[in-house]
Amino acid sequence: MRSSWWRNAAFYQVYVRSFADANGDGIGDLPGITSRLDYLKTLGVDGLWLTPFYPSPQEDHGYDVADYYGVNPEYGTLEDFDRLITQAHRRAIRVLVDLVPNHTSNTHAWFLAALGAPDDPHRGLYYFVQGRDGGPPNNWQSAFGGPAWARLNGSTDWYMHLFAPEQPDLNWWNPDVPAEFRKIVRYWLDRGADGFRIDVAVSLYKRRDLADRPMVPDRVTGAPTAAPGFEILDQPEVHGVYRDWRHITGEYEPERVLVGEIFDPGRQSRYIRPDELHMAFAMLDRRWDAPLWRQRIDVYRRAISRGTSLPSWTQSNHDVVRHVTRLGGDGIGRARAKASAMLLLGLPGQYFIYQGEELGLEQAYVPPERREDPLFTHSHGQQAGRDGCRVPMPWRQHEPNAGFSTSPPWLPMPPGWDRNAADAQARSATSMLSLYRRVLATRRGLARRLPNTMRWARAPQDCLVYHRGPLAVVCNFSRRHVDVERPGRLLVGSAPGVVQGEAGLHLPPNSAAWLETRRSAGS
Ligand code: NOJ
Repeated sequence: MRSSWWRNAAFYQVYVRSFADANGDGIGDLPGITSRLDYLKTLGVDGLWLTPFYPSPQEDHGYDVADYYGVNPEYGTLEDFDRLITQAHRRAIRVLVDLVPNHTSNTHAWFLAALGAPDDPHRGLYYFVQGRDGGPPNNWQSAFGGPAWARLNGSTDWYMHLFAPEQPDLNWWNPDVPAEFRKIVRYWLDRGADGFRIDVAVSLYKRRDLADRPMVPDRVTGAPTAAPGFEILDQPEVHGVYRDWRHITGEYEPERVLVGEIFDPGRQSRYIRPDELHMAFAMLDRRWDAPLWRQRIDVYRRAISRGTSLPSWTQSNHDVVRHVTRLGGDGIGRARAKASAMLLLGLPGQYFIYQGEELGLEQAYVPPERREDPLFTHSHGQQAGRDGCRVPMPWRQHEPNAGFSTSPPWLPMPPGWDRNAADAQARSATSMLSLYRRVLATRRGLARRLPNTMRWARAPQDCLVYHRGPLAVVCNFSRRHVDVERPGRLLVGSAPGVVQGEAGLHLPPNSAAWLETRRSAGS
């Protein structure tokens, strides 16, 4: 395996709208991110992934792109982007841009032109299709609820949208679409981007016949559900796109990278290849249970081991409930989140931190009348939506809007949100932030001695133990105290109660430890 800057890197996902607001309008922006680069450097990350900052009507907060070559005025200018890149690179922090190739905004120039006349050639860039029996062309469903088709006013034509109606799907079978994206990829790489996170990476090509999805009764409820094994996305042609982009990234020095939004391990093994994507997300979202976590970790390790890459461990992002909440919330959720971070950060592979995870933020309650997520609005409130993990960062305690902005933020902060502020946590040795800093620094210090392999070791019940070269990681998932016989010198403990005594290593409930051993081990 050639050594590359991104392998085993710690990445940090910046949800641009909610990270830091420099111009006081209550909305995060690019200069805000630049002003916080020192915080990110001190945290110890190697790269950032910026969520979409392109001009956009924000129907899906930037995942509806109106212009792939610009910056949304709410977020700044192209010059602000250039400054952010320069400043990040000065600190040896790389920057990944979010690429949204599956769909555009309905305000993109192509779509507006397509609406002009039924024979406008731009229609061929999207899926404009005649309806069937007065209804949509097929039975495909949108991820946000309802049919994946919207009818054009006064016409029998419909257009496809696998997400919101404001996000029409591009027709990748039309060669003008891949040609345009090749230009977009080069444009951002030439501007200094270090790579891309690729939105819904397996979706670009839809099955050509647009056939109905066969439906079968759900085993429990009897309600009609999509039969497994009938693929409407994930067509073989998409691999050609990634081979092409991989080729382009290889022309740049240092190497640029492609991270696919793919969570399914089975699919990852087909996309993460020496000539396709470099990375995809290994999402750990299982119940807090040692055998389940071990199994999930192994599934991802096996999926990728045939390629030349390593898993990209992740626990949270802007689409899922924050993991402190998923792991039980409050004190217990935070204790487990400290332990889970140590368990995953010790493994071979990359790690993606979602902003605020290093502060132990919980899912916030956002009152229904303030929710903005199309998942909430388009499902008519049936789905809670994702606003609760997107509430802006608390930077300073006892300051208006927790130091995020001088104006009230675009999503309301719940009472007491500033309790988790970064400045207060930086002063506390036992905070989540201090632990992340310590663990990332230790990981960096050990990096040259850590092999890209690991080996599970015998562990007490409800615990996991593994070795990776000189590093031993022990994680106690149970609700009881556990003693492990002297496995090495304690480097970091997730809680003050993790101590190395006469009897060996002592782990309180829901805690983890990193130890240095003499033994060198891998698998
Ligand atoms: C995945 C993104 O992460 C999500 O936020 C977005 O709504 C969909 N793709 C559609 O672009």
